[in-house]
Amino acid sequence: TDTKRFHFNLEWEEVTRLCHTKSLLTVNGEYPGPTIAVHEGDRVEVKVTNRITKNTTIHWHGIRQYRTAWADGPAYITQCPIKGGQTYTYNFSVADQRGTLFWHAHFSWQRASVHGAFIIYPRLPYPFSPKIEAEIPIIFGEWWNADVDAVEGEMIYGGGPNSSDAYTINGLPGPLYPCSAKDTFIQAVEPGKTYLLRIINAALNDELFFAVANHSLKVVEIDAAYTKPFSTPAIMIAPGQTTNVLLQTNRAPDPSGMFPMAAAPYLTSLFPFDNSTTLGFLKYKGPNSSDRRTEPSVVVPNLPKMTDTTFATKFSDKLKSLATPQYPCRVPKAIDRRVITTISLNLQDCPPNRTCKGYAGKQFFASMNNQSFVRPLMSILEGHYKNLTASKMLSSTFPERPPKVFNFTGVDPLTENMNTEFGSKLLVVPFGTNLEIVLQDTSFLNAENHPIHVHGHNFFIVGRGFGNYDANVHPAGYNLVDPPERNTVAVPAGGWAAIRLKADNPGAWFIHCHLEEHTTWGLAMAFIVRNGPGPSQVLLPPPDDLPSC
Ligand code: C2O
Repeated sequence: TDTKRFHFNLEWEEVTRLCHTKSLLTVNGEYPGPTIAVHEGDRVEVKVTNRITKNTTIHWHGIRQYRTAWADGPAYITQCPIKGGQTYTYNFSVADQRGTLFWHAHFSWQRASVHGAFIIYPRLPYPFSPKIEAEIPIIFGEWWNADVDAVEGEMIYGGGPNSSDAYTINGLPGPLYPCSAKDTFIQAVEPGKTYLLRIINAALNDELFFAVANHSLKVVEIDAAYTKPFSTPAIMIAPGQTTNVLLQTNRAPDPSGMFPMAAAPYLTSLFPFDNSTTLGFLKYKGPNSSDRRTEPSVVVPNLPKMTDTTFATKFSDKLKSLATPQYPCRVPKAIDRRVITTISLNLQDCPPNRTCKGYAGKQFFASMNNQSFVRPLMSILEGHYKNLTASKMLSSTFPERPPKVFNFTGVDPLTENMNTEFGSKLLVVPFGTNLEIVLQDTSFLNAENHPIHVHGHNFFIVGRGFGNYDANVHPAGYNLVDPPERNTVAVPAGGWAAIRLKADNPGAWFIHCHLEEHTTWGLAMAFIVRNGPGPSQVLLPPPDDLPSC
């Protein structure tokens, strides 16, 4: 085992986009942040020094953190924040994982600018051909002219959805935004080769479609798990998801040598949205293209329309685990427990002495099983480790409140009681539980595709559908042969998704919507996996430098 060491300094950096200069929170002054590239089986140590006056934490999104929940990162779930001037070293291994993941800050809305690629090179050769000429990280993000802390503050106090000023490819908005042509991502490629694009959606609040003009994309991996390869004109990628695609440069270059690539939102929301497009370019090298920078003709590739749920659904349906003897699909065929939880937006009356800018003068919240998640004042993991779960800090019964009425469509939010309970109740399961979680979108306020992310475990999406889940009907149609393995599932708008996992990683784990505005509103829960009987099935003790609250 090799140990790979990195040092992250969290610091402010003056960054200009759209002719707007601001102090941006960065790691080592870079935006997006530095790439972590390691090999399967490595031990990874990232020393994070907080050089600002705000708190922070860093999360290694999709890294399993087997027995090392202390290094997972979500604030108040597995650790107290790293305070200004403090250092905390995240120490974990990447055994038995390979592919594209990412890391991001997991404190308030800091991940807007504090994120980067996390690449794990496989021990074995790629299970796909042909030979890869080069690997290209493509990170989608959002640029905000405003201070994101202020935006978050508005959200907390009932502001409506607030949109960023631009989507970005590797930190660059591209020429379709004002004062932005010089900040365009351009990737040089050779004709006649195959490239591996490692695509990461690090945007705060938007699911995106992505396409490259005149080139099809062959999907080979999602969330660091190989898939059965298939070709597609475009992909849909939700915040928290990653997708590896092969791209063949088999086109005759146009006179400029440039082919645009574009990302724009997939949105089913009724609320105001940002439907702008970020554009980058593939630049073919070769006799037909000159090396001087030419102004390309700006033709946006054919992206699906913003509300194209049919495309998004067909795309998701094509994703299947590779399921070969070398990479078997480990979906639990039988379950010990099924938990049905709603995922919902809610409205609450405005607190006195405040103006609420949510729907009809009310305040927005969000919930899972009608509990709007409140982070406790110390870390849940620490409370669990020290056996404080029985204290008033936390209650260890996740509300067993499957919805009484499933058919929420058409509910009038102004007459219906849409209030939610506030709390930090947890789901607690014994080690090794084969768990099924059914995520049911309630369609309160609007049906929206929620990307639900599970920490500490990959899961298998055994079923998805529109309308209401029916435990007497839907399990018969599950895919238990080659369901996609992921860490983030886009639950269909106005529908449900059933996921299965083996809860065999002791610790406390966050489950939440990866749309940051929904996490802020409480669309989250946590679960505890108890220690197993064997000495190698217990949570390791906390590191000495674990921050305290
Ligand atoms: Cu990528 Cu809890 O997050």
